[in-house]
Amino acid sequence: MDFKLTEEHIMIQQAARDFAQTELLPGVIERDEHQKFPEEQVKKMAELGFLGMMVDPKYGGAGLDSVSYVLAMEEIAKIDASAAVVMSVNNSLVCAGLEKYCNEEQKLKYLVPLAKGEVIGAFCLSEPEAGSDATSQKTTAIDMGDHYLLNGTKNWITNGNTASTYIVIAQTDVEKGHKGINAFIVERGWAGFEIGPKEQKMGIRGSDTHSLMFTDVKVPKENRIGADGFGFNFAMGVLNGGRIGIASQALGIASGAYELALKYSQERKAFGKEIFKHQAIAFKLADMATQITAARMLCFKAACEKDAGQDISLSGAMAKLYSSQVAMDTTIEAVQIHGGNGYVREYHVERMMRDAKITQIYEGTSEIQKIVISRGLVS
Ligand code: CAA
Ligand code: FAD
Repeated sequence: MDFKLTEEHIMIQQAARDFAQTELLPGVIERDEHQKFPEEQVKKMAELGFLGMMVDPKYGGAGLDSVSYVLAMEEIAKIDASAAVVMSVNNSLVCAGLEKYCNEEQKLKYLVPLAKGEVIGAFCLSEPEAGSDATSQKTTAIDMGDHYLLNGTKNWITNGNTASTYIVIAQTDVEKGHKGINAFIVERGWAGFEIGPKEQKMGIRGSDTHSLMFTDVKVPKENRIGADGFGFNFAMGVLNGGRIGIASQALGIASGAYELALKYSQERKAFGKEIFKHQAIAFKLADMATQITAARMLCFKAACEKDAGQDISLSGAMAKLYSSQVAMDTTIEAVQIHGGNGYVREYHVERMMRDAKITQIYEGTSEIQKIVISRGLVS
């Protein structure tokens, strides 16, 4: 593994950093307060090619590698973790899933506008009774000949009310267990497809999380992804890459909080000196810097393995497990270093602490990552 970033990597990192400073930072506190989706900002991310970063240019993407994606995600999440999850879902769940597993016709129809960021996508696996236990799908898709009839409820769907294209996982044959699950491309506005109210969340409040209800929604046969019964393997395959996105989001939240805490510790004085000069504070920052560097290396490792076409189930899970823990630990300490100021909105770190928590829950909780990793150790 080469630890040296290329000139192109540095350019992308800088572009993402500049964008985050100029476009995301103003208004991030207000968007969090009012649960406002970063609509204008996401449009600008599309113009920069950030919504289809790894997609082949022939399908409208930027054709970049996964290390570039990690670098850009970190910079975006440093400032606005809500914008980062919109980017992560569109890139590494929706676009990646369509590019890797769909046929040419499906790619031309659905992937191209998603990769260009003309429309946004959502990935719909979780249900009220199937979260971690994702094979327990209750949503059904009954084969009616030329179409499937989709019925059921998905919950916690990111981009739930802003997406136009939804990848929906459903059970087509209960007898076959997870081998009887399929994935479908569903369009917003189809008869019988309803979007529930927005969830009121602790963190990533700028992102748009909804339940989705399907009542006798007709899904054309040609919208099934892959061979009959491929849906669960599709979902797992996509999530392996998705976990690199969330790991990078967690990394960004951690490094954003660390940078603010480092700066504050050199400005704030107590007992006649900058608080950084109190070893208790300096040691917290030393721990943060070390853990963030380790998290970044795990993200890069998984990204390099993905680009090399290797199995990333283990490295993706390790990156997510570790980075999300670092995000939580770092943001808690960043609030502590800020003292009372850490507890109020204008200093940003309290939002980062709230945002960090979700990275230990979605795209597989930390307990699920440990299941994936431990199974991988003996397989
Ligand atoms: N990569 C590839 N395939 C995998 C896999 C992985 N990481 N994990 C499991 N599989 C495959 C298995 O090989 C098996 O397939 P075959 O029978 O063809 O060999 C199939 O999946 C079933 O696997 P298991 O028998 O291990 O199933 P299980 O029920 O014991 O456990 C699980 C599966 C790993 C716990 C899985 O249910 C899981 O990952 N749960 C977490 C769900 C999740 O991450 N949800 C995220 C929703 S999206 C989201 O959250 C987006 C967002 O927030 C922004
Ligand atoms: P549960 O599965 O009920 O888990 C509850 C607790 O039990 C957890 O601590 C879990 O780790 C633990 N647990 C469960 N099983 C085991 C076990 N075998 N061993 C040890 N511990 C276990 N889903 C989507 O499909 N698409 C999205 O876009 C999406 N976005 C989301 C956005 C937000 C803001 C949130 C909150 C969730 C989102 N999710 C999405 C859903 C998310 O993936 C699930 O919440 C997550 O997978 C956990 O499922 P659950 O909430 O049902 O918890």
